[in-house]
Formats: sequence, C-alpha cells, structure tokens
Amino acid sequence: MCGIIGYIGKRNAFPILRNGLAKLEYRGYDSAGIAILSEELCIQKDVGKLQEIQFEEFEGPIGIAHVRWATHGRVSKENAHPHSDCHNEIVIVHNGIIENYRELKAKLMGKGHVFRSETDSEVVPHLIEEFTAEGFSFEEAVIHALRMLEGSYTILALKRGEQKIAGARKGSRSLTLGISDDGFLPASDVLAFLEWTNKVVYLKSEDVFFADAARGLRIYNLAEDRFVKRPVDRVKCSAEGVERGEFEHLMLKEISEQDETILRALQQDEEVIQGICDKMHHAIGTFFVGCGSSYHACLAGSYMFSKTAKLHVNVALASEFEHYEHFLTDKTLVFAVSQSGETADVLDAVSAAKRRGSTVVGIVNRDGSILARESDSQLFMNSGPEICVLSTKTYTSQVVLMDLLAYALAGKYEEGLKKIGGLYLDIYNLTSRSMRDYLARLARMLRDTRDIYLIGRGAQYATALEAALKIKEVSYIHAEAFAGGEIKHGTLALIEDEVPCIVFVSNGNKNKILSNAEELKSRGGYIIGVSPENEAIFDHWIKVPDAEELNPIIQIIPMQVLAYQLAVYKGLDPDKPRNLAKCVTVT
Ligand code: G6P
Repeated sequence: MCGIIGYIGKRNAFPILRNGLAKLEYRGYDSAGIAILSEELCIQKDVGKLQEIQFEEFEGPIGIAHVRWATHGRVSKENAHPHSDCHNEIVIVHNGIIENYRELKAKLMGKGHVFRSETDSEVVPHLIEEFTAEGFSFEEAVIHALRMLEGSYTILALKRGEQKIAGARKGSRSLTLGISDDGFLPASDVLAFLEWTNKVVYLKSEDVFFADAARGLRIYNLAEDRFVKRPVDRVKCSAEGVERGEFEHLMLKEISEQDETILRALQQDEEVIQGICDKMHHAIGTFFVGCGSSYHACLAGSYMFSKTAKLHVNVALASEFEHYEHFLTDKTLVFAVSQSGETADVLDAVSAAKRRGSTVVGIVNRDGSILARESDSQLFMNSGPEICVLSTKTYTSQVVLMDLLAYALAGKYEEGLKKIGGLYLDIYNLTSRSMRDYLARLARMLRDTRDIYLIGRGAQYATALEAALKIKEVSYIHAEAFAGGEIKHGTLALIEDEVPCIVFVSNGNKNKILSNAEELKSRGGYIIGVSPENEAIFDHWIKVPDAEELNPIIQIIPMQVLAYQLAVYKGLDPDKPRNLAKCVTVT
C-alpha cells in the first residue's frame, strides 16, 4: 500500500519523482521520501502528506522515492522511507512485508549493524551492505540479500558510486518498469510515469532488474536462477482524469462521473459476456470474492443472480476465502472483483483458485494490474482512474457489470443494456448541484451525530452496507448497516430518541422494510428514507427514481454525496481519510 517510483536517465530525477509520488499518494500518505544520487547521495523524508512536505530540489539523474502507509512501525520520520545502511551508502524503498525481518534484524545487529527505524524494510540495505562488505558486487549483493527475504515485496535500491537502480518484485505486489526515450522508470503503478511513457515491462514474481545508465536493462529471475527476457508492452490506460478539474475534491469529481462511467462499464464485447455466462451455467460452484466496496458489489450482484438469472452464486470476503478453498475444483468458477486489481487478499484468492485448477474471471478496473494479467478472462469496468481512497464510480460499475451478466444469463442481454443505460439521466440528476445542496443540508444536520444506522433488504442490504462504509471512511461517524429483519435481534437496544436511521426502500417490495422502519421509529429513531415515494413514516425523505431491480445502482449515489458532504462539514479531507489507503497490498 506504499507507493514506490524510481528514475534513471538523462534528465533530472527530482521533478519526475516528485510528480510520480503525487500520482502514487492514493497508496499511502503517512510520510514521503526521495533519494537522489549524483556524486553525493541526498536523502530527504518527512511525515505528512506530500503537499505538506518541503523537499529541497536536488540535482541528479538517478533517484528513488516512496509514499508510506504504515504497517510495521508507527508514523514517524525515522520510519519514513528511503532507508539506508550504516554508512548511508546504500539506500532502498520498499512496499510489502518482510516476514522474517525480526530474525534478520537480530542477526545483523549481532554483527554490529545499527538500525534507526522500527520498520521491516530497514533490514534490506543492511543485508546488501553485509554482502558488499564480503566482497560481492552491488548486483550480486542485491541478489544474495533478496534470497534471504521471506514475504512479498517490491524494492528499489541505489548505491553510491553505482550508476544504476536495482529493483525486485516478489509475490502479490506489482512493479512495472516504464521505458522512456531517455531512461527507465520503475514504479508500483503505471499512473506514476504515464506522462513520460506508455511502454512498459511487467516484472514477474522473483524478477530482479538492473537498470543501468551504461548497460541498459537486465532482468534476473531468482527462482529460475538466470537472466531472463520480458516482453515490452504498451499500457492502454491514460493519466487523464487524475486531476480535480473544477471540483473541490476528487471524491466529488468521481461521484459526478457516474452517469458516464456506468455507460462505459456497459461497453463490453457481447461474445465475452456470453462466454462467461456459459462458464457460469456449466460451473459446479461459482464464487464472487472481493474486499471492501468490491465485496459489497458482489453481495448486491448475488441477489440479482438469484432473482433475475435464477442462479446461485457464493459470495466471500477475499480475506476469508481460504476457509472455502477446499470446495474449489477444476469445475469451479471464481470471480475476483477488484478496482485496483492489486488487493493482496484478492490476489491470494486468485492464487488459491489457480492452484486448484479453477477458472478465474477478473472484474477489474486497472488494465495491466496483476489481476488483469493473471485471471483467465477479464471484464473491465472502464471507469478511468479512481484516485480518491473511497470507491464510488467503480462500485457502481461493478454492480453494473454483475447486473449485465445476470440479464445475459436470463437471456435478456439487450434488455439489460437498455435498462442500465437508461439510468444515465437519473444518475446525472442525483449528482446535480441541487441534489448536492439538498444533501448538504442533511449533512449539516447530521454532522455532530455519534451513530447512524442503516437498513435495507435484499440487494438493498448491500446498499446499506456500502453506504455505511462510505460514511465511516470519510466522516469518521460510526455507521452500521443491517438487513432490515435483523435489527430486532439486538441492535434495537441501541436506538434512542433522534438516532438517525437510514432506510432504503424499493417500491416493488416495501412492506417489510417499512415495518422495520416502524420498529426503529417506535424506539425514537429519526427515519431518513431513501425511496421513490415519500412515506408517512419518514422524518426526512431523499427522493430517488424507481429503478426497480437496479435500485442498488441508483440509491448508493445520494449516500456517496451525503458521506462527502459530512466530511466537508467536519473539515476533513475526503480524498485522503486517516489511516486508509486506496490499494491494500498487505494481507
Ligand atoms: C481499500 C479501499 C476501498 C476498496 C478496497 C478494495 O480498502 O480503501 O475503497 O473498496 O480497498 O479495493 P479493490 O481495489 O480490491 O476493489
């Protein structure tokens, strides 16, 4: 969840790295650091978001840089990357986890190495130092050091006096090498260097590269124990859409794009969709796995598969999937759903599925991501880059794709395209200025509340879960969602006078959820209805069009806007909520 980037070439590395870090900040914003190598090795780092840190521009054609999302060691300047060896000769940046770092650190300390941080990462420069002290070249020392690491990681390393960057990838972390006319740009995400080049080499697990000013690029694979060749690809995605434009925050911009992103999600090859449907019909066991919002989308989809396609699918949190692994066979179909395509728990589920011979379909936004490359077939969300930590447009696109599959399974592909595409205007209206102002007034009323409860039934239970997640993530208000029928089994004890309760109502099936709303109201709950009709029980009504079985796509949108407005009223940064990261590459 940290982001790393490097540059070696003919230009000045600093502005390229500083710019690249800004594109990677969604991966972590606890601290940032840059190391530039010329005659000297200059290392600068500090805690805070990038725009809060004053880096001095230091000239040099080689450098590495890092943004951190703390896992091992608290947020502090000492724990910020880059990390160096005892003599500030060797410097590294790292994303991932080195599982055996305690043991390695103890051994290194026993040999007299002095550690300055609490991180697992710092063992790497000391290990390289140890091997160079034994007489190995920098390249050999890097390879020897990497062989000692357990875990999954991406690493970039520099050494004073060496005109090269060494780097490596192992396990579920992504490291892509951008190849521009004047140099090499290894990075965690192609977005970091897309303005310079779209020519890339995707490194495989256990690849170690050496990008050398004189000798060009060489790649050595640790498992194969030899130098290897990797093809040069061209990335399709563009850096477009990562700026805020006229919007105050990226979150609002991304929410407002949903009228178009649902249409882009529908731009699929019908043959591919029908092929996937065929696999679903023939599979013995279908699983949908995801984390966070992607998991909620899977849950929403499962109701649609059940009702519209009359097909049962299993839904699992990717982090819990290992408990279901024994069901997987070569007849199982696993849908791995992930915006980033890099979430470690999802990639672990994919590896498990592949080990057991199951077929994997990736529902993914990022072209070139590990999921996009490692799944057997892919459905792309086509949402464009989503940078705000909270998923908004990619959530609705995921639901769109699952709904489209459900229609196709039911032999109603064309009808599905038409119905979903027809939501365009409704979504546009739900993100309009007047709707935003309306929800801002509600946010002003709710901003000091301690708890918000949300209920829905069927697919709208998934909407309630997703809406609660949006509110929690960005406004830090405790929000908890329940299936409407469940509140009487415990949660009702928490309802007191004026506790806000958000109720998701669909016209076709409203009696039961309105009874649940009654239960809340009779204990004093303040009922906010998200509903096509204004019901007598509502204290506050958020009017939404009736999209029938597609209500989950529609009804989440005012909730995204409400969560955004709550953050704004509370003076919080909606794009970078505390303690979170967009791309979670640790399990
Ligand atoms: C992080 C993000 C969430 C996202 C989840 C899964 O926790 O903050 O917004 O839903 O990861 O991400 P994925 O990229 O796999 O969809």
